[in-house]
Amino acid sequence: MATPVLPAPIAADESASPRDTIVRCENVSRVYHLAGEEVYACRDVSCEIVRGKLVALRGRSGSGKTTLINIMSGLDKPSKGKTFILGKETTRMNDGQLTELRRHMIGFIFQAFALLPVLSAFENVELPMRLSGRGARARQRRATDLLEMVGLGKRMHHRPFELSGGEQARVAIARALANEPGMIVADEPTGALDSVTGLQIMMLFRRIVQEQDVTIIMATHDPTISEIADETLIMSDGRMSRDIPEELQGTGILDAVHMPGTLHAEIGLTADREGLHDRIERGGPSGEVTLPPLPGE
Ligand SMILES: Nc1ncnc2c1ncn2[C@@H]1O[C@H](COP(=O)(O)OP(=O)(O)OP(=O)(O)O)[C@@H](O)[C@H]1O
Ligand SMILES: [Mg+2]
Repeated sequence: MATPVLPAPIAADESASPRDTIVRCENVSRVYHLAGEEVYACRDVSCEIVRGKLVALRGRSGSGKTTLINIMSGLDKPSKGKTFILGKETTRMNDGQLTELRRHMIGFIFQAFALLPVLSAFENVELPMRLSGRGARARQRRATDLLEMVGLGKRMHHRPFELSGGEQARVAIARALANEPGMIVADEPTGALDSVTGLQIMMLFRRIVQEQDVTIIMATHDPTISEIADETLIMSDGRMSRDIPEELQGTGILDAVHMPGTLHAEIGLTADREGLHDRIERGGPSGEVTLPPLPGE
């Protein structure tokens, strides 16, 4: 079956993004004051994330991933340092300006997906477009296209409790894409999913990055992401590095398939039964992963 084509993104605003930088952090620190003590959730983090990449943010629990993702997406401001999102210095913006920036330029995917339970999948995807003032016909067309693209063409009128966890994740992804954002941030989006479903969702992210001019920054504990992402950033006690420490070098589902006798091998077999691994190909000089179509495609 032919792979559905993603709706075309709106042309990038070159004045807002003079270069290919999507997010830039300059010496960013975030300090919390608790009972007279200072807690550094982020310490002097500098980094630049460019257009069209899938970026993984990994690190132990409490290492500062959520804090950094919130700063990078304008949900929070650093205590020190500067942040630029799509060429705009967010550390100088007021709350109203930040709300506008988030609404039009950033898509959010949360661990529990935060879908509105009283709305159907279609209505959940349509909602951000209503908030940004898009007309009814354009909303309908884009919500339909996006839900078909994530493989939910036949589930559009289901409410979240009538969908599986993986299907809810796909609704959340379609919703995050609704307003053609330059960047999507996802905080533990596969945390509540089984390994195979989590892999399917990560592969969907990979495909979206390839087909849409969008950057995805994903905080996760799942080592599989490092096999799929263009770049892995590591947080450790609030500091950032690019070296994956030994404790985080576990094998992800893609590399574990051929290790007999392990739990991962079991998971791999499940994936094999679904034909997932047969459809994952590695190629190119750096062994990039190409995407399997989603079930139903
Ligand atoms: N509102 C807050 N007040 C005080 N300390 C906080 C607050 N939010 C986070 N912290 C502290 O900042 C540090 C980083 O927290 P953060 O939530 O960013 O970690 P994380 O890497 O996302 O962890 P996890 O993998 O468990 O989600 C932790 O030590 C945490 O206790
Ligand atoms: Mg977190």
